[in-house]
Amino acid sequence: MAKKVSLTGIKPTGMPHIGNYFGAIKPALALAENYESRYFIADYHALNAIKDKEKIEYMTYEVAASWLACGLNPKKSLIYKQSDIPETFELSTILAAFTPKGLMNRAHAYKAKVDENTSKNEDPDANINMGLFTYPILMAADILLFDSDVVPIGKDQKQHLEMTADIAESVNKKYKKELFKIPAPKIGKKTQYIIGMDGRKMSKSYDNTIELFLGEKKLRKKIMKIVTKPVSVEAKKDPENCNVFELYKLFSSKKQQEELADKYRSGGMAYSYAKQQLFEVMNEFLTPMREKFDYFMNNKNEIDDILKAGSNKAREIAKKKLKFLRKEIGIININ
Ligand code: TRP
Repeated sequence: MAKKVSLTGIKPTGMPHIGNYFGAIKPALALAENYESRYFIADYHALNAIKDKEKIEYMTYEVAASWLACGLNPKKSLIYKQSDIPETFELSTILAAFTPKGLMNRAHAYKAKVDENTSKNEDPDANINMGLFTYPILMAADILLFDSDVVPIGKDQKQHLEMTADIAESVNKKYKKELFKIPAPKIGKKTQYIIGMDGRKMSKSYDNTIELFLGEKKLRKKIMKIVTKPVSVEAKKDPENCNVFELYKLFSSKKQQEELADKYRSGGMAYSYAKQQLFEVMNEFLTPMREKFDYFMNNKNEIDDILKAGSNKAREIAKKKLKFLRKEIGIININ
């Protein structure tokens, strides 16, 4: 039987952090074992928010280098840029004809902006572009174009997946035929919650992140700033109630964890010692990835080559799908 297809879109939004790695990147990459896996950079989605030429260009390379450094194997999986698959935008036009405006009105991201404007007594649609409003349609096109079976996403994207299914189902119903496969979301477990430097969930919006590819010095400096309890060196400490130990568990063996936990419990350990231990295991884990990341950022032409090969393959699939769809809905294929 043919392998099922997994597909996910990655918005270029800056260097990923430890929370992104364990919560999203690692589980998404693990799907390559059992699925025909596809990963793409959602650069036109990013354009809705970012109008800075250098920034969007840099971030696109940065996100490609990040996923490659984290283990995305372009020989095994497809990696491409959304902008290199023009069929996506044609499908988006088709889907728009089947998308009730009311459905878009209910999209969380759009609604949040409207609510914000209203609470500030501004025009409800102030600073909202059509790209933001129709974002779920473009996302549906990304997914449906490739007959995706599963889509690994964060909780925040659940509604978008439901909208994708809604739109696909209404097309299938209209033509009484399965023109689109209905994709299923694959949402990470709640337990994949990575603690940030201040003890809250690691998130850019809390400014408590540790980026994946910081240089050694910067990494160490960040780790030394992790918030710990204000207790004396002599005090006995509880490893199970400590931000440093929580992070240590992600990068160390059971034996290492027991050894450090003993030091916590017997007292006489300064938090700076635990932080140094954390730095060492983290640095060991991250160094090969950082080297790969730096290599790609210094050799962007290699990223270009990988993305080019990926989009060539992806377009073959996309072109076939579009030709089929056009025929089914009565848009004439001249050639
Ligand atoms: N909207 C997703 C995000 O903000 C990115 C994305 C775009 C996506 N198209 C997609 C994710 C298709 C999964 C499938 O993170």
